[in-house]
Amino acid sequence: MVPSAWAICCLLGGLLLRAGSPSPGPSVPRLRLSYRDLLSANRSAIFLGPRGSLDLRAMYLDEYRDCLFLGGRDALYSLQLDQAWLDPREVLWPPQPGQREECVRKGRDPLMECANFVRVLQPHNRTHLLVCGTGAFQPTCALITVGHRGEHVLHLEPGSVESGRGRCPHEPSRPFASTFVGGDLYTGLTADFLGREAMIFRSGGPRPALRSDSDQNLLHDPRFVMAARIPDNSDRDDDKVYFFFSETVPSPDGGPGRVTVSRVGRVCVNDAGGQRVLVNKWSTFLKARLVCSVPGLGGAETHFDQLEDVFLLWPKAGKSLEVYALFSTVSAVFQGFAVCVYHMVDIWEVFKGPFAHQDGPQHQWGPYGGKVPFPRPGMCPSKMTAQPGRPFGSTKDYPDEVLHFARAHPLMFQPVRPRQGRPVLVKTHLAQQLRQIVVDRVEAEDGTYDVMFLGTDSGSVLKVIALQAGGSAEPEEVVLEELQVFKVPTPITEMEISVKRQMLYVGSRLGVARLQLHQCETYGSACAECCLARDPYCAWDGASCTHYRPGTSKRRFRRQDIRHGNPALQCLGQSREAEAAGLVATTTVYGTEHNSTFLECLPKSPQAAVRWFLQRPGDEGSDQVKTDERVLQTEQGLLFRRLSRLDAGTYTCTTLEHGFSQMVVRLALEGKNAGKKAAKSCWFLGLRLRWPGYILSGRVGRCFCHQQ
Ligand SMILES: *[C@@H]1O[C@H](CO)[C@@H](O)[C@H](O)[C@H]1NC(C)=O
Ligand SMILES: *[C@@H]1O[C@H](CO)[C@@H](O)[C@H](O)[C@H]1NC(C)=O
Ligand SMILES: *[C@@H]1O[C@H](CO)[C@@H](O)[C@H](O)[C@H]1NC(C)=O
Repeated sequence: MVPSAWAICCLLGGLLLRAGSPSPGPSVPRLRLSYRDLLSANRSAIFLGPRGSLDLRAMYLDEYRDCLFLGGRDALYSLQLDQAWLDPREVLWPPQPGQREECVRKGRDPLMECANFVRVLQPHNRTHLLVCGTGAFQPTCALITVGHRGEHVLHLEPGSVESGRGRCPHEPSRPFASTFVGGDLYTGLTADFLGREAMIFRSGGPRPALRSDSDQNLLHDPRFVMAARIPDNSDRDDDKVYFFFSETVPSPDGGPGRVTVSRVGRVCVNDAGGQRVLVNKWSTFLKARLVCSVPGLGGAETHFDQLEDVFLLWPKAGKSLEVYALFSTVSAVFQGFAVCVYHMVDIWEVFKGPFAHQDGPQHQWGPYGGKVPFPRPGMCPSKMTAQPGRPFGSTKDYPDEVLHFARAHPLMFQPVRPRQGRPVLVKTHLAQQLRQIVVDRVEAEDGTYDVMFLGTDSGSVLKVIALQAGGSAEPEEVVLEELQVFKVPTPITEMEISVKRQMLYVGSRLGVARLQLHQCETYGSACAECCLARDPYCAWDGASCTHYRPGTSKRRFRRQDIRHGNPALQCLGQSREAEAAGLVATTTVYGTEHNSTFLECLPKSPQAAVRWFLQRPGDEGSDQVKTDERVLQTEQGLLFRRLSRLDAGTYTCTTLEHGFSQMVVRLALEGKNAGKKAAKSCWFLGLRLRWPGYILSGRVGRCFCHQQ
């Protein structure tokens, strides 16, 4: 009888054959959890709004008010963080009357563009939010009453609606960044209908409205990623707003063509513009290049030049802020992603260093070697500039010479290099693209780890740690989990973390999900499984895999080994281990001679190397199964294309991970003859016996025979 051809095709088609090395690389997630897994374990909760999709464009996590505010298409929502999301507040906010029609008349897409997409959600004061939307290509801002702390209300203040030009882009999807500081909204955007006039803009508050000097071409087709106030020191007068973005600039060596580079730019919060020069324009704007590259063969560097996202890791007191930045390559032939970490002190050093100077458009850039005027361009008016004999209490007092210099030299000569001089994480050959990054600094038993959560374009989140072996060695990457947050593949566009709640808030166009940072029991109920997980959030407490909280349970038994994940050392003498091994019961599987048969083995971790052993009837020990074109080892199990009588025996599937071996399943494969001429056949002490009409069933030293 011919083996069922479709069965083999199905099996082969559905399985990835694991050829050669049985151990996949470390970039395979140790645990993959599906959308259903996450929901059923209460690890995640989803809000898609009353119409099944929010068309989300903005998200603001407000831990003071314990609310999550969402800006969608023609609507705003608020959700209470600690409740089931069954009681949202909604405010409908469509474009002004007639605006939708005008937008269509001007040739814009009625569905994709001619609606009010809410893109700004910023805290105005303790009771109000500032919101701005695209207003069907007529940006509009308004105030929203959110009530006092503890109240759950959401109302649009009808009298507060005003033009949002310069505060919100016209387009629903163009990269854009904003931050609210001291009553003013700072934005990085293109502010005109055609999307050509890129600028950094401040408006709406007590300070004078300022914009970038468009004559100077300070920004080249920028893609803004993030804006934030970062204090340089304890002097509030020195506070600056930093912008992170990419630009496409003329080739820096004066050659033809344009290149993409990433930037950090900044302006002083107390910038008031110039008196005669740079009137109503920034007088303190400076920018520097952010470099993220890996050395390749022969000294050629692979550059990751397109900035995708930035996360600021605020330190405990006394430490410098760290900037985590996610980059992609701009190459058409090679797609890769990298995470570089910058110390804020290194960024400050670059801004204190030489200015970049070019003698003419065709010339190379070099460091400016001449005398730099005082106050040094980029310096905020503060105690440093306003001293006896230095009467510079405002940028309006700055000499014209200073402002002319600032106009001509907005770029620093030195680039900012990452910590250790290279990325902490490099990802190539990924099936997905990476879009968002959030980082949590976690105290574990054996040290402090920065856990990275990376949002992909397919609706999933990767939870990753990079272990620094020390010295110049490459960091070791451990992908702890891959979490499919959204049911359908959709790019993650927003991510916020609440360390207090140990939650991640993940947004896509569809809606928003809250996701627990960890769920330690998912790793299993044995010490070894907990240890192999290498999750800094989780430790074995003597009875189960639980959330590790440093300091709170010092005297309790804790087992954790992030660096090596070695359960042989950590879990020695843990009674559960012996128990777990004994719990693997033998299941009997019947196979038909000459037909195909499949023995399933699904290890928890795809990072584990799977090995199959066979104990033949009558044999004392077991041997590793030899695979060939007839017997294939796949990711889901062992496939016999054509079963032979000699395949009968007890098969054990074991996993090997970090030198630790675990039995996953034990299967007794028993033969069954095809067709009418079924014969009874048993192995007994290595002898094969046959009787017609019986199913054979061989076991070591024993013989089971069943009437067919
Ligand atoms: C899931 O979480 C909700 C609310 O947090 C709770 O009421 C419910 O009991 C949880 N279900 C399970 C299975 O843990
Ligand atoms: C917040 O601002 C609004 C509008 O300016 C004002 O009506 C309200 O009283 C302010 N709330 C507080 C607590 O200052
Ligand atoms: C052979 O295997 C296929 C699929 O596993 C099964 O459908 C078929 O019934 C088997 N044939 C016999 C004779 O057992």
